[in-house]
Amino acid sequence: MLGNFCYSNPTKLYFGENSLNFLIDELKSYGNNVQLIYGGGSIKKSGLYDEIINILKQCGKTIIEDGGVMPNPTVEKLYEGCKIAKENKVDLLLAVGGGSVCDYAKAVSVSTWCDEDPWDKYYLRMEDVDNKIIPVGCILTMVGTGSEMNGGAVITNHSQKLKIGHVFGENVFPKFSILNPKFTYTLPKYQMVSGIYDIMNHITEQYFSGDDDNTSDYISEGLMKSLINSSRIAIKEPENYEARSNIMWIATWALNTLIAKGKSTDWMVHMIGQSIGAYTDATHGMTLSAISMAYYRKICPYGLQKFKRFAINVWNVSPNGKSDEQIAAEGLNCMEKWMKEIGLVMNISDLGVTDDMIECIAKGSFILNGGYKVLTKDEIVEILKESM
Ligand code: NZQ
Ligand code: ZN
Repeated sequence: MLGNFCYSNPTKLYFGENSLNFLIDELKSYGNNVQLIYGGGSIKKSGLYDEIINILKQCGKTIIEDGGVMPNPTVEKLYEGCKIAKENKVDLLLAVGGGSVCDYAKAVSVSTWCDEDPWDKYYLRMEDVDNKIIPVGCILTMVGTGSEMNGGAVITNHSQKLKIGHVFGENVFPKFSILNPKFTYTLPKYQMVSGIYDIMNHITEQYFSGDDDNTSDYISEGLMKSLINSSRIAIKEPENYEARSNIMWIATWALNTLIAKGKSTDWMVHMIGQSIGAYTDATHGMTLSAISMAYYRKICPYGLQKFKRFAINVWNVSPNGKSDEQIAAEGLNCMEKWMKEIGLVMNISDLGVTDDMIECIAKGSFILNGGYKVLTKDEIVEILKESM
């Protein structure tokens, strides 16, 4: 393990099919005014909304409704949420949904009592929070982002054609998160597989960096093997509790800061994927799957030993009689085959990207230097063209 680090994660998790029961206990720790944040209506259809309203009423809370959070939440919606929270002097932001709803709640949490424009302060200038933070609790219904146990809050600004994530510190992590795998049963297949690939890519973004012998990489390999196994089961049997619960748990550990410890981490697939999202508003996990093969094949020669290890340890590629390059390429072929098998989008043209957008998407991709190769803008253009 290289580097010096501190590890601490303040989010309390309640996991399993009875986990919603713990909401009553948690609510006791907060004031009366609860802003109930949710998306476009899936929780009303599933009946979860009614269950939560009943619990809130039973606990004597004043419920302030804030529905309609869209996938890839916008800066305009953020301003609206802050206004609601401020006017109602909200004590707790209760997010019920997926990454978009949880991210939005965190963004409202740091922005409501901020004197400046939160987009400029947190997203363009990347400054830290220095004002009052409203606590957030999450009840997760879509699995993938890890937002339930991290400080990430991604916001899209369509007029500026930017989608940016601010990773806030521990003070912004959800205070608690409730994870019931059964709440994910109603997800459409497209969302489920998009989430599965988001998880996979969170792991590879951290795994494909560094060349030291690092415990984080061994944990990552275990998580990836479990994900591949459970994804295949969940595709065939969406209501297989064992598979859905494994996927939910892997998602949390893939991006709750643990496997980044001692690693420089890459994140270039996410940087390019977010820029694609800013131009197309496409589903997050699909923006990652659609560029991944072109990206990983491009950087493979620069991190050959790790790609070889990935092939052998994650995809069970036999190394006998093969060159390192052949082994690494076989591993990537196995990943591509799995991606197609579970039904991911493999081309950005299928997400609405047109030739004239490519230069702009490349320009909007932040270039990071933690992976095996620092890309140039021209290389990002090449990756995008290869992904069409
Ligand atoms: O809005 P509703 O009606 O609830 O429908 C949602 C939405 O349309 C639906 N859905 C959620 N749970 C459901 C369900 N439908 C039926 N049954 C259920 N149980 O799924 C759709 C997508 O939801 P969304 O929250 O947008 O998906 P996801 O969890 O993938 O979140 C995506 C957002 O998170 C950001 C992404 O950039 C994107 O903005 N990310 C956040 C990260 C973080 N906090 O660390 C990291 C990630 O890399 C990612 O960037
Ligand atoms: Zn992601």
